[in-house]
Amino acid sequence: MTAIEDIRTAAERAIEEACRRPDPDRPRFHLTPPVGRLNDPNGLVVLDGTYHAFYQFGPFFPTQKAIFWGHATSTDLLTWRHHVPAIVPDSSYDRDGAYSGGAYVHDGVVWLHYTGNVKNDGVRSSTQNAVTSTDLETFTKHPANPLIPGPPDGYTAHFRDPMVSALDDGGFRMCLGAQRDDLTGCILLYRSPDLEHWTLEGELGFSDSDLDDLGFMWECPNLIRVPDEDTGELHDVLIFCPQGLAPQGEHYRNIFPCGYLVGRLEGRDFRVDQPFAELDRGFEFYAPQTFHRPDLLSAGDTSPILLGWLGNASEDDQPSLADNGWVHALSIARRLTLRDGHLCQRPIVPAESPRVTTLPLAVPAAGLRDEALALAQLDGQDAYVLHLEVDRSQASSWGLTLATAPDSRVELSFEAGRLTVDRSCTRYPHGGRRTVTVPDDAVLTVDLVHDRSITEVFVADGHTVFSLRSFLASGPLTTTLTATGKLVVRDASATLID
Ligand code: FRU
Repeated sequence: MTAIEDIRTAAERAIEEACRRPDPDRPRFHLTPPVGRLNDPNGLVVLDGTYHAFYQFGPFFPTQKAIFWGHATSTDLLTWRHHVPAIVPDSSYDRDGAYSGGAYVHDGVVWLHYTGNVKNDGVRSSTQNAVTSTDLETFTKHPANPLIPGPPDGYTAHFRDPMVSALDDGGFRMCLGAQRDDLTGCILLYRSPDLEHWTLEGELGFSDSDLDDLGFMWECPNLIRVPDEDTGELHDVLIFCPQGLAPQGEHYRNIFPCGYLVGRLEGRDFRVDQPFAELDRGFEFYAPQTFHRPDLLSAGDTSPILLGWLGNASEDDQPSLADNGWVHALSIARRLTLRDGHLCQRPIVPAESPRVTTLPLAVPAAGLRDEALALAQLDGQDAYVLHLEVDRSQASSWGLTLATAPDSRVELSFEAGRLTVDRSCTRYPHGGRRTVTVPDDAVLTVDLVHDRSITEVFVADGHTVFSLRSFLASGPLTTTLTATGKLVVRDASATLID
């Protein structure tokens, strides 16, 4: 196993090189790995005003697939600083991967629970382990690891991704993604008085029997409480990734889906109010995690913040890997609320950051009629959040085109209740073109987050989100608003991020 110092040096060298070498694909404010491969966000936590994002990190990918916990910090959720990996897979119980898990802070100690993955002659075994830290600079593997030595009877070794939360009685609960012996997916619950000793409670039960065989394995469960944006009332929300759902119409078009249920948790049972719905309809999105911002909590805002992986299992063949030795990214931070039982996500851009400039955009007061308007103030800008509020009631369709050349473009087109995203004319055309249902409001808000090779589209105040990697040819980016019929732009502004 490579020593931790070598990894630190490799990461530092890669960051230095990345700063020296022009890399027009490297996002300016999204978290990307300094080198190698990133997948799930892990252990998101805020300590003394600093955001810590850990993530599944393959520093030697694609040569070696060993998975570490990478570590980056930020004070503004825009500027990320890389640190030495927090978990190195150098123990007997994690030698084939320090897999995903979460953070829980208790009595000044940050506990990072994670899955140890081991393969013997191709046979997998999975254990649940912990690393602790008081300063998030030094990380100590718990001497009692593995804390949970394997799955209970009746479940396979697909047993991973611990997420810990507090119970009302002072104890703790761990949710784990699992697979039953009959090859269906579920969530297992454990409880602990002290975060170290865990006993099996059983499966999370559901009031909806359709969930009994939803896919062959459930990955990355997050059991959270989300406020309704009108009443402030908190509801239980279960986010998880059921593997193995066949495409159904416009749904489940990625290799594995990620979705959520809204309901009420009663003991070990989840009473489902709203059926399973996908969290992000885009080409790349998976395995998100959430955290709370203490500053918002103390101001009475209970909304969790979510970061997701803008990638999919086995889709690593992206241009940034061949060109610059890194692949994948995390999403922008998104604030979660519920509206009519639906999970809404709004991108967080801290206005107070010196990296951020917000400007109103000049658009004709009379609107656009069968025309294309290049947004001149965005010319050459490659990292921004564009906010639009449009009255589309007299337009049969309207859209946005992001282009660096006529044959290098991403096109978004809105037509009554539908959004079509076309990336077939990009350097990563995977999936080509996709149409999803969006709210059919006459007046629609769209927040377009674009950061070099990443585009995230938030439609109708975060009701529907579509994320994708958008690898354009190099060259200055132009952003064009188009309308067929008459489009009235009620509000248009851009937040530029340098
Ligand atoms: C989800 C996942 C997790 C696992 C990790 C391994 O993308 O498969 O279930 O812990 O990635 O990197």
